[in-house]
Amino acid sequence: MTSRPTTRPVSRRGLLTGGALTAGALAGAAAVTAARTGEPTAPPGEAVPVAAVGTAVEPFHGARQSGIATDPQAHAAFVAFTLKPGTDRAALGRMLRLLSDDAARLTQGRPALADTEPELGLLPARLTVTFGFGPGLYTAAGLDDRRPPSVADLPAFRIDRLQPRWSGGDLLLQICADDLVTVAHAQRVLVKDSRPFATVRWVQQGFRRAAGTEPGRTQRNLFGQLDGTANPKPGGPLETAVWVPDGPAWLRDSTTLVVRRISMNLETWDLLGRAERELSVGRRLGTGAPVTGTAEHDEPDFAATGPDGLTVIPDFSHVTRSRVTDDRYKILRRPYNYDGTPTPDGHADSGLVFASYQADITRQFLPIQQRLAEQDLLNEWTTPIGSAVFAIPPGCPEGGWIGQQLLG
Ligand code: HEM
Repeated sequence: MTSRPTTRPVSRRGLLTGGALTAGALAGAAAVTAARTGEPTAPPGEAVPVAAVGTAVEPFHGARQSGIATDPQAHAAFVAFTLKPGTDRAALGRMLRLLSDDAARLTQGRPALADTEPELGLLPARLTVTFGFGPGLYTAAGLDDRRPPSVADLPAFRIDRLQPRWSGGDLLLQICADDLVTVAHAQRVLVKDSRPFATVRWVQQGFRRAAGTEPGRTQRNLFGQLDGTANPKPGGPLETAVWVPDGPAWLRDSTTLVVRRISMNLETWDLLGRAERELSVGRRLGTGAPVTGTAEHDEPDFAATGPDGLTVIPDFSHVTRSRVTDDRYKILRRPYNYDGTPTPDGHADSGLVFASYQADITRQFLPIQQRLAEQDLLNEWTTPIGSAVFAIPPGCPEGGWIGQQLLG
């Protein structure tokens, strides 16, 4: 690591007179320079050189929020809040101004205002802070008529075993970075500044491979599967599927997020042979190729039959049941693995913090989830235990704040 910014020692006098913040601001300058261009440090899909992982930046300001089309960072914390009674439209405006200012600084490698640990704000490691508004936020603001209609509690599915401790929320902050210390610090600052307005409802932490370990590769979940292969690609399909193209200012360039905590039963999965594991999804474990193909991005042949006359990809496989061909109805999956404390007798507590973005939950996410809830071989080993929905409002220009089109 040669390009880490170095902090010069801060004297006690400097500390008392605010010198620590100045040192912090200087040290973050390298990262900020890249950010000024409004461009991420590396183009989407291209790996950031390992030496630059700490200083790499993603833009905060812009028409759309970062953290969605952004190449997924290695670590995430999804922090959901319940608004306190009395947090009305005006108070929400104050809170979101404050949190947007924190996010604008920290994502660019600058400590937050009155940051009590300014040194922890110097390495943004592609930090993004993405704001989501739950149904309750619109009610608290007296703006139910501006809530995107699909942002409402999902219907109950027969596979659900939902726990309140992982469900719901009025406000969400999705904090992602390639460094866990950066995530922890951003979470601390944002939670602290939200205290007058809201209480923490739940936090779900997740991870992928460390930055630079498998550049450009699809991530693996804890079943060992390549997870994300058929995602809509940046440019055409992702554009159509994720972003609201028009409408009033609080809708244009917005999207929606469904967070589902899905527990994965590694104990019973362990009992399966490799062939059964592959057939349950319809893809090979090693390459991620469809069981009818050889390479990850080969098109699955759902019509191909074997000597027994049955389809080679089982009709109830996960890819058969979840497949969507029309770009307008696709979803963007950006899941993170979670891995809690095993039980005393050694049983894992693992799964996915499944995050799905789409322009409209009812049109895109729901039909897929309904088909999967009805029939999906993977249901044998997976159980949804948490669920929450959020509108992701548009981004904001420099000097602006997230939510200003709605509440301002
Ligand atoms: C723990 C739960 C889940 C696991 C382990 C899982 C795993 C996978 C895997 C391995 C693939 C194939 C590779 C790929 O294209 O990414 C896949 C595809 C897919 N999954 Fe899931 N998934 C889970 C839950 C869900 C849920 C809840 C939904 C949506 C409601 C969903 C929607 C999809 C879609 C749309 C595809 C792409 C299908 C295609 O067009 O080929 N998955 N999933």
